[in-house]
Amino acid sequence: MSDAGTVYTAAVIGAGKAKDEGFIKGGGHRIGYTHGETYGRNDRTRLVAVADINAENLRAYQESFDLEQGFADYREMLAVVQPDIVSICTYVGLHRQMIVDACRAGVKGIICEKPFLAAPVDLSVVAEAAEASGTKIVVPHMRRYFPAFARAKELYTGGEIGEPLLCIAGIPGWDLSEWGSHWLDMFRFFHDDQPVEWVFGQARVRGQRGYGHAMEEHAVAYFGFVNGGKAILDGGMKMAGEWTMTLVGTTGTIRIRREDELVIQRADGQRTESYTDHPGSSYPAIWNYLLADLITWLDGGEEPMLGLTNMLKTSELNLAAYLSALRGDRIDLPLVSDLSEWPVEVLARRQLSQER
Ligand SMILES: NC(=O)c1ccc[n+]([C@@H]2O[C@H](COP(=O)([O-])OP(=O)(O)OC[C@H]3O[C@@H](n4cnc5c(N)ncnc54)[C@H](O)[C@@H]3O)[C@@H](O)[C@H]2O)c1
Repeated sequence: MSDAGTVYTAAVIGAGKAKDEGFIKGGGHRIGYTHGETYGRNDRTRLVAVADINAENLRAYQESFDLEQGFADYREMLAVVQPDIVSICTYVGLHRQMIVDACRAGVKGIICEKPFLAAPVDLSVVAEAAEASGTKIVVPHMRRYFPAFARAKELYTGGEIGEPLLCIAGIPGWDLSEWGSHWLDMFRFFHDDQPVEWVFGQARVRGQRGYGHAMEEHAVAYFGFVNGGKAILDGGMKMAGEWTMTLVGTTGTIRIRREDELVIQRADGQRTESYTDHPGSSYPAIWNYLLADLITWLDGGEEPMLGLTNMLKTSELNLAAYLSALRGDRIDLPLVSDLSEWPVEVLARRQLSQER
């Protein structure tokens, strides 16, 4: 990936847990390491600094990436280092302020983790901050780059199973936000990022928490696109089973298995397409694509599919589903709400008090 262009300096906010304890929920996934490794594989970026409030996490990250510059305060890092690109790898509740601070500090590009924003009011605050500074923001809903998902979209929109009717997905063991937001983004992807007209949501929330916020035991969300397409996501922390993603058309279905295989069922039979050995099916590959797209944008190219314009829409779906549960009504988009906190917190307070 060598190129003659500018080398962009990069810094990470939120190193991630010092010790790798495997795949865990609620935090501790250490996504900051994935960002650091991605910068390391690209000749156009150089990781130069990290900030973390946890001294142990900070030290471990500095050692791992051989970084001299480590800061307890990310604002100090922004002022001293003045990085071109910043990765925000903390939990959702911190994103808005960190994005605003990075924009004001003159950062050119931001990779901000999902779930992108924690409250309806954040959508306009972040859009205005990015507009004012010209900062280019991307959100890593990188499944858009997996060949199996791209092929599923091609088949679904290309008439392979007739007219598109419904995307139906399950995310047991997770909420609609942490992993669920990837699936909401996929729904939009499978509909060519057309606008969503309305959202219905319902959620059962109790005391469960993770990533600094309330997480629902069970939730379901139903989306209507302007072109008539529909999508349903069912999930929740207390739900058992495997994740699913099925696209239903008038004459057949496409099922996505793992993240690298399609099972296509039609009246004339069933076939499987495997992308397991495709070079684009690896995690490093999809992260490379994401960073390459941001660099192209920073160089003056087009805003990529994971750019702010599109990602605000994915974030809006997430928030609208919860707001629908809060209001007990359908939410018509664009979202109009002055709520300034994670809607699931409000649901948790309400539902726990009703139980007493
Ligand atoms: N894109 C993906 O596929 C993907 C995968 C995993 C996690 N994530 C997301 O990444 C985010 C982080 O999750 P994780 O499990 O990697 O987290 P983690 O718990 O491993 O790391 C979070 C880090 O943020 C630090 N931090 C907290 N407050 C801070 C502050 N004010 N300033 C600087 N640092 C601060 C913590 O000390 C910790 O080191 C979550 O939103 C999660 O949903 C995304």
